Amino acid sequence: IHSFCALSNARQIPLLGLGVYLIEPGKATEDAVLWALQAGYRHIDTAAIYRNEVSVGNAIRKSGIPRDQIFVTTKLFDKDQGYESALAACELSLEKLGLDYIDLYLIHSPRPGPERRTESWNALQKLVSQGKVKSIGVSNYGVHHLKELLGSNPTIRPVINQIEVHPWLTRQELVSFCEAQHIAIEAYSPLSRGHKLEDPMLDKIAAKYSKSPAQILIRWSLQKGYIVLPKSANKERIEQNADVFDFDIADGDMNLLDSFNEDYVSGWDPTVAP
Ligand code: A2P
Repeated sequence: IHSFCALSNARQIPLLGLGVYLIEPGKATEDAVLWALQAGYRHIDTAAIYRNEVSVGNAIRKSGIPRDQIFVTTKLFDKDQGYESALAACELSLEKLGLDYIDLYLIHSPRPGPERRTESWNALQKLVSQGKVKSIGVSNYGVHHLKELLGSNPTIRPVINQIEVHPWLTRQELVSFCEAQHIAIEAYSPLSRGHKLEDPMLDKIAAKYSKSPAQILIRWSLQKGYIVLPKSANKERIEQNADVFDFDIADGDMNLLDSFNEDYVSGWDPTVAP
């Protein structure tokens, strides 16, 4: 659980993070984040649009764990894209979190279009130079969005693309492009939002390793080289999802899991936006 990898800017990021999408603001989020931190997680992934940044910040302070030992990500939502509006949105996120810097700030989606995406990226670069944000990246970007950003020769390149990816949605082309560009992949909805957890083929693999289907999916992400962000609001499942560092899925079973791909999107898919 204390495994890290280095981003292309040489900063370290914990490979496992707690995703808090769809966890109610208030006690539910505070509990989940505290349980995760007590279970050894050191990486929390939130977003302005999740409305639970205040609770994430409260839990971090309650945990007593020093700020510099916790990796916090939040995201710039569509309505705030643009230069001045992105700077203001980041300020508001910092205020809500009660932090004086964010480890990773992501553009949440490419949907606002080329002009506003570009302005937003310029704002994110400014936030790095101001020390308010340590690393910057994108989320839900398709290959064409990444080409647009990289083609503009930005001063700072994105270190991460956070996308939905799991065995039923392997996104080989997008993943290969990111890898070639040294953009790390963060896997969200690594459990397919729970939609595919009862798959009988998955269950068979899980039985073979004496692990749960969720643990197999998280391990698959890690062995693919992804940073993985399972969401749970339940103490036992939060703990279970971190218990994935004591086994290896054999190559043959990794290939079998890869073969589940059916381009299944469990949520939304902004990677196809113009
Ligand atoms: P819950 O929050 O009640 O634990 P994803 O990370 O792909 O978005 O999936 C999140 C969904 O999977 C949530 O419905 C979550 O429910 C459920 N979930 C999380 N961890 C587990 C687990 N270990 N076993 C079964 N379901 C899980």
